[in-house]
Parts: sequence; structure tokens; C-alpha cells
Amino acid sequence: MANRLFATKSYETLMQEMAGEHRLRRVLGPVALTSLGVGAIIGTGIFVLTGVAAHDKTGPALMLSFVVSGIACIFAALCYAEFASMVPVAGSAYTYAYATMGELFAWIIGWDLILEYAVASSTVAHGWSHYFQALIDQLGIHLPRVVTNAPFDFDTATGHLAATGTWFDLPAIVIAGIITVILVKGIKESAGFNAFMVIVKLAIVLFVIAVGAFFVNPANWHPFAPFGLAGIAFFGKTLIGQTGKGGEPLGMLAGAAVIFFAYIGFDSISTHAEEARNPKRDVPIGIITSLILCTVLYIAVAAVITGMVPYNQINIDAPVSDAFRQAGLPWARMLISIGALTGITSVLLVMMLSQPRVFMAMARDGLLPTGFFGAVHARFRTPWKSTILTGIFVGTVAAFIPLRILADLVNIGTLLAFAMVCSAVLIMRRTNPHAPRPFRAPFVPATPILGIAFCLLLMFSLPSENWLRLFVWLLIGFAIYFGYGRTHSVLAASLAAEISKHGVSPAGSLAADPAPPDPRR
Ligand code: ALA
Repeated sequence: MANRLFATKSYETLMQEMAGEHRLRRVLGPVALTSLGVGAIIGTGIFVLTGVAAHDKTGPALMLSFVVSGIACIFAALCYAEFASMVPVAGSAYTYAYATMGELFAWIIGWDLILEYAVASSTVAHGWSHYFQALIDQLGIHLPRVVTNAPFDFDTATGHLAATGTWFDLPAIVIAGIITVILVKGIKESAGFNAFMVIVKLAIVLFVIAVGAFFVNPANWHPFAPFGLAGIAFFGKTLIGQTGKGGEPLGMLAGAAVIFFAYIGFDSISTHAEEARNPKRDVPIGIITSLILCTVLYIAVAAVITGMVPYNQINIDAPVSDAFRQAGLPWARMLISIGALTGITSVLLVMMLSQPRVFMAMARDGLLPTGFFGAVHARFRTPWKSTILTGIFVGTVAAFIPLRILADLVNIGTLLAFAMVCSAVLIMRRTNPHAPRPFRAPFVPATPILGIAFCLLLMFSLPSENWLRLFVWLLIGFAIYFGYGRTHSVLAASLAAEISKHGVSPAGSLAADPAPPDPRR
């Protein structure tokens, strides 16, 4: 049984599956891939969560929070890039885990990716709703208050959850529905459409930096770190630094754990590897370039916003556009709201497109029911059933659960996935030292080890209840795996066939490369 749980898919099997699959057209070059990355990255994180982070946890030290979070992502990105260049198949981190740590870990990461894609989409839909409301507000249109937000939220003044007086977030449901229809019909983010949205949001971000810089009052940067530079916690219990009313860690590092959300999405480039002209070179270029570009822009936006508005007056729903309102530029507020809506829409498209792809990879391996999750629409050629399921999930969760609670849950789940990808690189270097690596992460083992350390540091710095939520989520995942996946696994069935034929289990040797260790390692 243990053999089955930890059986890995061999590197050769992955290569064969790739050759056998119906291939997508290879049309994406490095610029298009980088643009897809930026399309997936810049969204609710920078346009909404900067407000919560600066107001509640960091003050102007938010700039440093972006640096710390960006460093954690660079280490993880180098590891993603190595894997994506080796095995350019859909499925991303789930597939990498299957090839290195075995089926159980692959399941854990696949289940975890639901947090990264589907729950993140709910968070992003909330962000969209905030900016949509800010926009129509400027046009004098107001929605009935009861349909403007989730029915409860975290109240920093008391440290507890409190009723908001609203019923649900209607605009979030509507945008989730619209994106679902688009994705089912198959107008997936064509490189051209995506490029347009990326240009609009980059233009707005550059506008915020360039115009906002004239309204910076350096006095607002003092005190630089009103909540301290620490926020180091262990399972959410503060070790070094200040603690909020609800017991949550405060400070620059705690802020880094929150705005980590802003970086999520660069890894989705790896799910486009099959469509890349030269995946082995261009996918790593796309991942790393988009990440570095966004890091620089984020630090600049954080500097401008905290310079324009005293940190304790930063709006937590639409902080960027509101900073321009406070600066006396209402026209700029309108422009920024439109840019934010465009940017957030492109993130939502990519995230809600990626989720059904991961489901499909899992269904192909027998870990989820193929009839549902592998179903492709006869006319639209899209995974329509899992796309609709994703849409219903995203809309429902966005309607009732508040943005900050969702964002923290997404962060802890994604950080776990990143840490596992870093571990997978370490394992793959050992088990398959000679497999061709068109892109090699530099300074292995230091890079993946630092990646794991940074991800753990940020995970620990999130409020403690997130750990509980993560464990509950994983327990539900285990129940589904042991109730369904384990008995329907394609790999387990082939292992069982081998055992009955030869009387021995080949597991454990499946992924091993019999060649001697790589001296460059
Ligand atoms: N990084 C994406 C965003 O901020 C998820 O919206």
C-alpha cells in the first residue's frame, strides 16, 4: 500500500504522455509568455490588498514587505522554471509532484492548487466588485447596500469577526458568471486579448507611479514601520514583533505574508508550456521576467500610495483609486478604477482557466472522475463541466466569505505548493540527475532550500487560524483521495498489474535514473 501511495510517474512516462497528447499550437514566444505572466499577476493584490496590509499591518514599511515576498517568489520561480523546462506539460506543480514525491503528495498539491486557483478567483472577484462599486459610485449609481459585500468580515478594531449588515456580494457573483460563460464558450485568453488587457493595466500602474510621485509627501513615510519590522510568528503566534487585537502578528513580515497574494500567478505560465514555441528557453524567461517586472512596479506603487496618504487613512477597499481622490484628482480616480477592473478581469480569466486544467490532469490520472472532470464539450472543445463547477464555486465563495479571510487562505495554500515545488527540484536532482535540464536553477541546493525557508517563514507569519483552515482543507482532500482517488488511480492499477505479472513491485524504481550522480549537482 505504501508503495502505491508514494509511487511516482517516471520522467520517461511524462515525456511519452506529452508526445501522445493532442498538442496545442506552439505560438507563444518570450514576449507573449511574459505578458501572460503579467496578466495573471497584477490584480487584486496590488489594487486592493495593499490597503489592508498598509493600514492594518505595516504602514509605509509595505515597500519592504514587497521586497521580502518578491524574494520568496524568485526562489520558487527559479524552481518552477527548472521543472517547466524539463517537463513542459499542463498540470504544473501537480505533475512535478507526481514525478518526484509520489501520488499522495501529487494529490495533496493538486488539492492545494484549488486554493491557489479557485479560492484565489473568489478573492479576485471580490476585488473586482470593490472597484466596480467605486466606478459606478463616481457615475452616481449605487447598489443596494445589502448586495455589496459578504455578510461578515474581520474587524481589526475588535480583532473578531463582525456582521457587515450586508447579505452577499452581487457584483462578484456576476463577474464569476460572465467569466464562466466566456471560458465555456472557449474564448480563452488569446494572446492578443490578453496583451491588450496587460497594456491597459501596465499603463495604469505606470500612471499611478508617475503622477502619484508628484503628490507624495515624504512626511507620510514617518514613522516608516509603525507596527515594527518584524511580525515573525510560529503557527501564527507572534514570536518577535507586535500582536493585533485578535492575536494576529503585525509588522513588515506579517504584511509580506498578506501581500504575497499580489505575486500569485507567475506559475500559471508553466501551464502554458505546451503552447510555447521554445518552451525550454522561453518559459523560464517568461516566469522570471514577469516576476521581476512586477516586483519593481509593486515596490514603486507601495512607495507612492503610502507617500500620498497617511497609512492609517488608506482606504482598504479601493486604496489606489482612493489615494487619488484624497489627492484631489477625481478624474484620475475614474481612470484607475477602469484600469484596475481591466487588470483584475485578466487575472480572473487566467485563474479560472487554470483550475479546470489542473482538474483535467488529475482526472487523466484517475484521481478524479474522468467522466466529469475530463469531459470536453463536443462543440466548444472546452472542459465545460469542470469550468461550470469552478464558476459556481467561485461565485458562491466570493458571495459569502470576506476578501481578507479568503486572501490569507489562498496565501497559505500557495506557499505550501511553492515549498513543495522547491522540494521536488531537490528530489529530482537526486533521482534523475542526468535528465536534460534546459534551464537549471542556479545554486542548487541553496536556491530550493532558501525557497522552502522563505515560504515557511511567510506561512508561519499568517494569523494562526489559517493553519487550522489549511488542515481542515487537507483533511477533506484526504477523505476524497482515500474514498475515490486511491482506488481509481491509473498508476496504481498499472503497478498492481505489474505485481501480479512479475510478483514484485517496481515502485520506487519507477522514477529513478540508473545513471551515476551528476557531478555538476
Ligand atoms: N496576483 C493576483 C492578484 O493580485 C492573484 O490578483
